[in-house]
Amino acid sequence: MHIDELDTPVLTVDLDALEANLDRYQRYFDEHKIGLRPHIKTHKTLAIAHMQMKAGAIGLTCQKIGEAEVMAGGGITSDLLIPYNILGQQKLDRLMALARQAHITVAADSDVVVHGLSEAAHAAGLTLGVLIEVETGSNRTGVTTAEEALHLAQLIDKLPGLEMRGLMGYPTPPEARPIFQESIALLDRAGLPHPIVSGGGTKCAFQAHELPELTEYRIGEHIVGGVGHLLAGRHSVDECALRVIATVVSRPVNGRAVLDCGSKTMSATILQTENGPSIGHIVEYPDARFYSYSEEHGHVDVSACDRKPVIGERVQVIPVHPCPCVNEHDELVAVRKGEVEAIWPIYARGKIR
Ligand SMILES: Cc1ncc(COP(=O)(O)O)c(C=O)c1O
Repeated sequence: MHIDELDTPVLTVDLDALEANLDRYQRYFDEHKIGLRPHIKTHKTLAIAHMQMKAGAIGLTCQKIGEAEVMAGGGITSDLLIPYNILGQQKLDRLMALARQAHITVAADSDVVVHGLSEAAHAAGLTLGVLIEVETGSNRTGVTTAEEALHLAQLIDKLPGLEMRGLMGYPTPPEARPIFQESIALLDRAGLPHPIVSGGGTKCAFQAHELPELTEYRIGEHIVGGVGHLLAGRHSVDECALRVIATVVSRPVNGRAVLDCGSKTMSATILQTENGPSIGHIVEYPDARFYSYSEEHGHVDVSACDRKPVIGERVQVIPVHPCPCVNEHDELVAVRKGEVEAIWPIYARGKIR
């Protein structure tokens, strides 16, 4: 089937671009002897996860237990990292069931989380690997000093059911190096192990070697790109593999086109650019501005386009943020040179717990 025969709006991934991105990043991490642990929150599909493992990934990152359950259920059990504070009996019970099935490491940044993990793992008769999350500039989670990292490491080392596996942070630009260096120095002095030091983020992926402490790196968006990466020059239009194919459903005035893809197709993410808000980049009309949406309508300013789209015309839209866009869809259509090769269920969509 040709992509022109697909009903719209439809989420597609270009396999040539996907494979090129996979190869480009895997090669860099192989060259620098840093393990690549792709984050599946971007694509949420088993088929792509299997491609990543086959290409040389050391394991996968899953932000939530539900995503890891999907990966393990699909046969990827060798090494899953959940870099998230896991709290509450229901989640701990699921985590233990998962840890019986797969090699699991989790992250923690507080005594409360570490105690909960230890009690659950001890009661289940399991040993759970734990990374200490350090704060590396996002003002999100993570301990903010090396002393706190040491304190948590000592706790993990002392409590039953846990194994101290190291450190992680997100994102990890070169400026994030000091907290890793300082934490490692304290851990070494205390004789505590840190076999894993895990960095992450597509934005600074090719600078990972500037943090020689890193043993592995987590990235998600690299595999498909997106408008932010396009504007920053990290991905070309051709390397932006994820495309929503949409139809022009209205041209109410000369300067406006309306697409059949609104926030329920593209996601509600809006990227603020130099030219104003952006919901997506329209490949055939680079001068158009997809500036707003309603749930099922994409509002596009086409006044700057010499040639203007007509009603019924189909366009390809690169989303601004691939991860929540994928999360809006049941299926991802895999395309090569305009022909459909596969239709992949997005099994991990909506797995927010
Ligand atoms: C903990 C963690 N690691 C890795 C990543 C992957 O980063 P990116 O999407 O920039 O590739 C994210 C993204 O949100 C994250 O939260």
